[in-house]
Amino acid sequence: MKHIPVAGPWITQKEIDYVADATANAWYENANMYHERFEKAFSQYIGTTYAMALPSCTSAIHLSLLSLGIGKGDEVIVPDLTWIATAAPITYVGATPLFADCDETTWCISSDAFQECITPGTKAIIPVDLYGNMPDMDAIRTIAHDHGIAIIEDAAEAIGSEYHGKRSGSYGDTGVFSFHGSKTMTTGEGGMLVTDRKDLYDRGLVLRDHGRAPSEKMFWNTEVGYKYKMSSMQAALGLAQLERIDELVERKRQIFSWYQQKLQSVEGIMLNYEPSGTKNSYWMVTAIFNPKLGVLKEDVIQRLKESGIDSRPFFYPLSSQPAYNSLASARAARTRNTVSYRISPYGVNLPCGMNMTVEYVNYVCDVLKKGLGVE
Ligand SMILES: Cc1ncc(COP(=O)(O)O)c(C=O)c1O
Repeated sequence: MKHIPVAGPWITQKEIDYVADATANAWYENANMYHERFEKAFSQYIGTTYAMALPSCTSAIHLSLLSLGIGKGDEVIVPDLTWIATAAPITYVGATPLFADCDETTWCISSDAFQECITPGTKAIIPVDLYGNMPDMDAIRTIAHDHGIAIIEDAAEAIGSEYHGKRSGSYGDTGVFSFHGSKTMTTGEGGMLVTDRKDLYDRGLVLRDHGRAPSEKMFWNTEVGYKYKMSSMQAALGLAQLERIDELVERKRQIFSWYQQKLQSVEGIMLNYEPSGTKNSYWMVTAIFNPKLGVLKEDVIQRLKESGIDSRPFFYPLSSQPAYNSLASARAARTRNTVSYRISPYGVNLPCGMNMTVEYVNYVCDVLKKGLGVE
């Protein structure tokens, strides 16, 4: 069995043709043709009024916070279990992240934990659709609404997921996506900010272009902003991928179903959850082991590696990371967030790149079960 990577895209001749066309033709008066098509198609797919193509999801979170006017002295609630990119932009704008505990089954932010973290200084929440799983958005929205708290939905990992008939990314004041090479659809590196709010969209346009409004004359900057633009070649790649999004998401769901068939009856292993009324796009097939098996995620990762299989650790709680040592809010979360600290040591992301076959999945599952000592 050859080496099995943990993630990777599905690129066809369509993507190659679109990028080649952008390289040859998206210049001069056509410089923006792929951005315009990509943004329009993306907003239609997600079901929002606006979409803004950006160089990363991190920049989309940064622009969301800035457009909402969040800054020094404000607090923003994030789940403890996520990639640091969800929280880092909170520090960029001078605000403080608060780390809320996660739900036992969805592994996303728990609405009760969100409620408990709220203080008079809380201005926003960034719920994360972790690995494609959806949090309890109705409860989160009700709490946020009651407290006048803005929502930035971090759908970086969840394009194609749905909650009560609406697509992931459409639940907040803004929604943000990543098109990193490991994601279900990719532009190499890239991101998107979506919103229904014209005020946030207009503000984002100014901030992403060095503080120049689109209506302003060239080289005329009303404030110091950012250079957050995507290239035409990336936008062309994104458009081609988006035009194939249904088959990309379907492929992810098929890969998950192969894992499910092999692992669902194995005692002591829990996989991604799909509550009724939701659709999980299963970006990362993830297994949590019962601690009673006595095997930590690092041991499992090592055993898989010895058999040529790449995997990833479930995120370490952000509050446990040296990056947040100096934050009192992180130190408090270390003892409070019992679910996050219980799940994280026993979770592994299994290979689910677009090149997975049923034979690879069977092989991974056999090695995994052997490593865990379960059958
Ligand atoms: C949950 C989450 N948020 C944000 C990001 C940041 O995305 P990007 O790498 O495009 O900035 C990622 C990327 O992997 C992510 O997984």
